Amino acid sequence: MRIGVLTAGGDCPGLNAVIRSVVHRAVVDRDDEVIGFEDGFKGLLEGRHRELDLNSVSGILARGGTILGSARLERDRLREACDNSEELMGRLGIDALIPIGGEGTLTAATMLSEAGLPVVGVPKTIDNDISATDRTFGFDTAVGVATEAMDRLKTTAESHQRVMVVEVMGRHAGWIALEAGMAGGAHGICLPERPFEIDDLCKMVEERFSRGKKFAVICVAEGARPAEGSMEYAKGEIDQYGHERFVGIGNRLATEMERRLGKEARPVILGHVQRGGTPTAYDRVLATRFGWHAVEAAHRGDFGMMTALRGTDIVMTPLADATRELKTVPQDRMDETEAVF
Ligand code: F6P
Repeated sequence: MRIGVLTAGGDCPGLNAVIRSVVHRAVVDRDDEVIGFEDGFKGLLEGRHRELDLNSVSGILARGGTILGSARLERDRLREACDNSEELMGRLGIDALIPIGGEGTLTAATMLSEAGLPVVGVPKTIDNDISATDRTFGFDTAVGVATEAMDRLKTTAESHQRVMVVEVMGRHAGWIALEAGMAGGAHGICLPERPFEIDDLCKMVEERFSRGKKFAVICVAEGARPAEGSMEYAKGEIDQYGHERFVGIGNRLATEMERRLGKEARPVILGHVQRGGTPTAYDRVLATRFGWHAVEAAHRGDFGMMTALRGTDIVMTPLADATRELKTVPQDRMDETEAVF
């Protein structure tokens, strides 16, 4: 069998572990050939690809990023890539394509599959917001990075009696903010799922200071928004991929809290630090299992499906289910900590 593999969308720790696993299972165990497309669907569209063998994936398990490169593609070009895929795959003799990606990539994978192409998806995102899988790899690493940042920020915040506002990734779902906030002991957590009242945040900080605690850490998801009329906040512009370019809730919140509380506040925008570097052991294992199961699914002819984690098992689930709706933080998870505002 000849298997094509590509990584698309924003990168994520663990992508290399999937690629390595696909090559190990396919080439070593199954005597397949594996072709890697460069820069996601762009490589498919432009015919940029290379054969992957054991040497190509040697030493990449612990490496962040993706050896294949990744790119986001505008909607029109994505459609073009989908339209050209059949001819390209036919020409290259690809029997199965394994796209590894988040919502956009899995939507494209669904389009390819609906056009009759043999596709097995692998979900990835640090945001953990893909429904149909309990977890995505990359999330554990991102939560670890944000947690460590909060541990570090607490000591400097305490020395200077400051409020630290830590902005983490998560446009539509606040999983990173929730779990890093819980693990890092943030005193306030703001999520995109629930507009926050700045008055309540300020009251909490004042109450801490009145108890003799002279610092506070607020963990805010980049997509969190103040409740209507709570504080001024302008929407960001929409970029070429249809995503809102955020104007920085972390900065706004720190400025506003400093003004209202009369205490020093500092914003810390963690940004892409959360996406870079070496994946945790958990993410390496999940990514490796996804890769193994994707190859097996391809051999069974289980197309139009993607790998998913259910409990502790890896199962196959229809690709279309992955993108039907985003997995956001439900109320009962917010209720588990008093820090969510
Ligand atoms: O979806 C993953 C993600 O890291 C989001 O958390 C974040 O909002 C976005 O990608 C950033 O995208 P870019 O790398 O294009 O700035």
